[in-house]
Amino acid sequence: MKAIVLAAALAALLGIGLLRPPPGSGPDDAAAPVADAAAQRRHGAYLARAGNCMGCHTAHGGEPYAGGHVLETSIGTFITPNITPDPDTGIGEWSAEDFWQALHHGQGRDGRPLYPAFPYPDYTRVTRPDADALFAYLQSLAPVAQRNPPGRIRFPFNFRPLLHVWRALYFEPGTYVPDASRDEEWNRGAYLVQGLGHCNACHTTRNPLGISQGDVLGGGRLMESNWYAPSLTSLQEGGMSDWAIEDIARLLTTGMAPRAAATGPMAAVVSQSLQHLRPEDARAMAVYLRSLPETAPYSRGPAPGLTGDVDRLLRQGEDIYEAHCRECHGAAGQGMLNAYPALAGNRGVTLASPTNAIRSVLFGGYGPVTERQPRPYGMPPFAQHLRDEEIARVLSYIRNAWGNRGSLVTAAQVDRSRKGIH
Ligand code: HEC
Ligand code: HEC
Ligand code: HEC
Repeated sequence: MKAIVLAAALAALLGIGLLRPPPGSGPDDAAAPVADAAAQRRHGAYLARAGNCMGCHTAHGGEPYAGGHVLETSIGTFITPNITPDPDTGIGEWSAEDFWQALHHGQGRDGRPLYPAFPYPDYTRVTRPDADALFAYLQSLAPVAQRNPPGRIRFPFNFRPLLHVWRALYFEPGTYVPDASRDEEWNRGAYLVQGLGHCNACHTTRNPLGISQGDVLGGGRLMESNWYAPSLTSLQEGGMSDWAIEDIARLLTTGMAPRAAATGPMAAVVSQSLQHLRPEDARAMAVYLRSLPETAPYSRGPAPGLTGDVDRLLRQGEDIYEAHCRECHGAAGQGMLNAYPALAGNRGVTLASPTNAIRSVLFGGYGPVTERQPRPYGMPPFAQHLRDEEIARVLSYIRNAWGNRGSLVTAAQVDRSRKGIH
């Protein structure tokens, strides 16, 4: 059976391989001369933050960019490569052309296709001058000799040539093409969101290989961790078409806005990447995000019918809230700006899928660590203090108090999250 699958894949691969033009020959691929090398490196350092290269290419407590970061995905575990300029274990022998092949075409130095766990389907939007600046910056780092172990990718996905087939079907290299009907600021925001920001790498539905299959920025589950990254094109989820530009920019760079807070993986994106954006770039992203068209008409979540049983359950939830949550989140769920998020009117609380809210209460969490807020306030974990039924009740309560509307949370849902079942 395995042999048949592989043979079919190889046949498809050869056929498709013949049809594709060799990479590196399109108009996007031309390099331009650089006048000021130091300025180019500084520019590259900024872009590396905007792309959060360090976030994935640094092991926990390890040397920056030396790789070794463990990345769990639905097809197995990746151990990220060393991208410092060490000649043996890093990319010291690479040319700017090799780097461009990786970032733009998703091809390794030896021509092998790379897995989209490296978000090149987004980075392909990056222009050649920006890619060259990124490369110049990485080459200016101190080389770190660190050989990282190979990852553990499951069959059949560990058969790398299969990627040729998927790429031929789903991956189209191409730098960002400005929309002439929009102004420069909007285009700058679109370039950053679609390219280096790789927002769509999390905020969409993906197939097991990690290739985007859903609507762009339409929301999706992070398969490895069971967090749900909400749709950025729906006001019911994470859409911002009725927000003030300043509030969006503030959420991106501080993780806090009047009715939202970045938590979990999004808090990491803010700490590692978005807080370093120049104010004009954060604003450009906000302008673009605000302009995204709504994909679904707004409707309030499915509120439970107020039967006597439901009423009793919500009142039990209210008692738990008074005892354990009110001191921080406030009597009316109003929170305290820049310290404790509001729960009233917070879409993170009322999302159709309660998984993020369940995770917050079970495991607690911190907002992003930023220069402005080096010691963010924490949410204590309640996994040891409250039983599944109690957590379900308090969550059902906050999803239906103060004008919020959301389905009731069940103890079984809390139990699954506690056990890490997705
Ligand atoms: C979400 C995690 C993630 C982010 C963010 C990320 N990478 Fe990677 N990168 C990977 C993984 C995983 C691989 C290995 C892919 C493979 O084995 O096919 C990789 C591979 C690479 C390679 C190929 C290295 C080699 O030895 O073949 C380069 C170059 C690279 N990344 C550069 C970058 C740059 C530059 C950025 C920022 C703009 C970046 N990466 C951001 C996960 C990431
Ligand atoms: C590593 C995965 C990941 C990446 C990359 C990512 N996000 Fe998120 N994002 C999430 C998750 C998970 C959540 C849900 C948790 C939360 O609400 O903070 C989220 C939440 C959000 C929210 C809603 C916040 C709220 O509570 O209302 C916005 C807005 C958002 N992301 C914007 C972005 C933008 C813009 C980018 C690109 C610059 C981006 N995200 C990149 C995972 C990601
Ligand atoms: C000591 C103060 C404190 C207490 C007590 C507390 N919280 Fe929190 N809570 C926070 C902070 C701070 C955050 C933001 C953490 C983060 O961003 O990960 C938060 C985040 C949350 C979130 C996620 C909000 C979002 O935007 O995604 C939910 C849901 C939540 N708390 C519910 C509760 C419930 C229910 C209780 C009681 C069982 C409770 N909290 C008790 C401080 C607290």
